[in-house]
Amino acid sequence: MKVVILDDAANVAKYGAGIFLDQLAKKPDSVFGLATGSTPLSLYRELIDSNHRGEVSFAGVKTFNLDEYMDLAPEHPQSYRHFMNREFFDHIDINPDNTRVPPGDAANPLVACREYEAAIRDAGGIDIQLLGIGRNGHIGFNEPTSCLSSRTRVKTLTRETIEDNARFFREGEFQPQLSITMGIGTIMEARLVVLLATGRSKAKAIRAMVEGPVSAWCPASALQMHPATVVIVDEDAASELTDPAFFKHIEAQNQALLARLQGQA
Ligand code: F6R
Repeated sequence: MKVVILDDAANVAKYGAGIFLDQLAKKPDSVFGLATGSTPLSLYRELIDSNHRGEVSFAGVKTFNLDEYMDLAPEHPQSYRHFMNREFFDHIDINPDNTRVPPGDAANPLVACREYEAAIRDAGGIDIQLLGIGRNGHIGFNEPTSCLSSRTRVKTLTRETIEDNARFFREGEFQPQLSITMGIGTIMEARLVVLLATGRSKAKAIRAMVEGPVSAWCPASALQMHPATVVIVDEDAASELTDPAFFKHIEAQNQALLARLQGQA
C-alpha cells in the first residue's frame, strides 16, 4: 500500500486525476471503477477540465460504479446513477452506454448482481478502481462485518452510513436501508486501486486501514493485501497515522527515482 500525504484536498484531487490521465494516455479504452460521495468530486472536475481542454478523451472508456441504493430508480435525484450523470458523465465525451451503475431498481437484485460481475469480467476487468472511505472503514457499501472475499451483492447499510448520508435526503423522504455494492473480492481484482480521503473525520478510518489488522471490522484494511493500492490523503486524514513523516520520505524517494529513470529514458 502506497500512502501519499499532500497538503490539502485540492492536491489530493490533482494527484488522483493524474493517475487516471496517465492511464488514459497508455490505454484509451481503459476500464474504470468509479465512486460517488463528496470526496471524488474535485477529481472528476479535474478530469472534466482536462477533457474540455482536449487533452484527453473518454470516448473509448468503460466505467463501472461501485454501488447504488436499492429501491431508488436511476432518475431519482439521490440515486448514484443520477449523481454520476450530473457530476461527471454529462460533462465528458463518454458513451453513456459504456457507463454502468448497479441497478438499484432491478426486479431481481440477485440476478442483477451476478450480471454486474459478468459485465466487469466481459469488459476485461477494471484497470483502476477509485474509492473513498467511510468513517467506519467501508469501501463501496461494504460495511463492517463484510466478508473480505465478497462479490457484488445486496448489503444492509449501517446506522452510521445512513446518518452520514441523511444530509442528501429531505426531511421525511424515503431513505434506502439497502444497497447493491461490488464486493471486497470484486474490488481486490482491480489492477490498480486509488483511494482518496480528506478531512479529519476520516483520520481514524485511514489509520485502521493502513496500520490496523486486516479485519472485517475495517473492510478497507483488506487493501493491505492488494498488490497495487495508492492511498492519497490530505494532512487531516493522515493526522492519526503513527509515522506520517516516513510515508512522506518514501514518496520523496519515489519521486526522485522516477525523475532519475525519466532522465535515462
Ligand atoms: C461511494 C461509496 C462510499 C464512499 C464513502 C465516502 O460510491 O462507495 O464508500 O466512498 O462513503 O463518502 P464521502 O466521499 O462522501 O465521504
